[in-house]
Amino acid sequence: MTDYPTEILRVEDLAVEFPTEDGLVQAVRGVSYSLHEREVLGIVGESGSGKSVSSLAVMGLLPAAPASGAGSCTAATTY
Ligand SMILES: Nc1ncnc2c1ncn2[C@@H]1O[C@H](COP(=O)(O)OP(=O)(O)O)[C@@H](O)[C@H]1O
Ligand SMILES: [Mg+2]
Repeated sequence: MTDYPTEILRVEDLAVEFPTEDGLVQAVRGVSYSLHEREVLGIVGESGSGKSVSSLAVMGLLPAAPASGAGSCTAATTY
């Protein structure tokens, strides 16, 4: 029987928005991915595409205001 690696991080339909003077900035929309034990995930994209904001959101490092978010993020507590 195949022994599948354990899933350690699941991000589903992540969205982050910033209200600004020029209107609402939808920095991240509909991002989903999962990561398993021994996997390495690279996030690539053009400047301003949401790499930093999505990663900060997953790590819980975005300030509650002014950013607002939606989606779910599940991380394993033991590795
Ligand atoms: N605090 C903020 N207020 C308003 N807009 C922001 C803020 N932080 C990031 N953004 C916007 O969110 C988008 C994604 O930014 P970012 O995640 O830094 O991109 P990347 O890391 O891929 O270059 C960009 O349009 C950026 O201008
Ligand atoms: Mg960045």
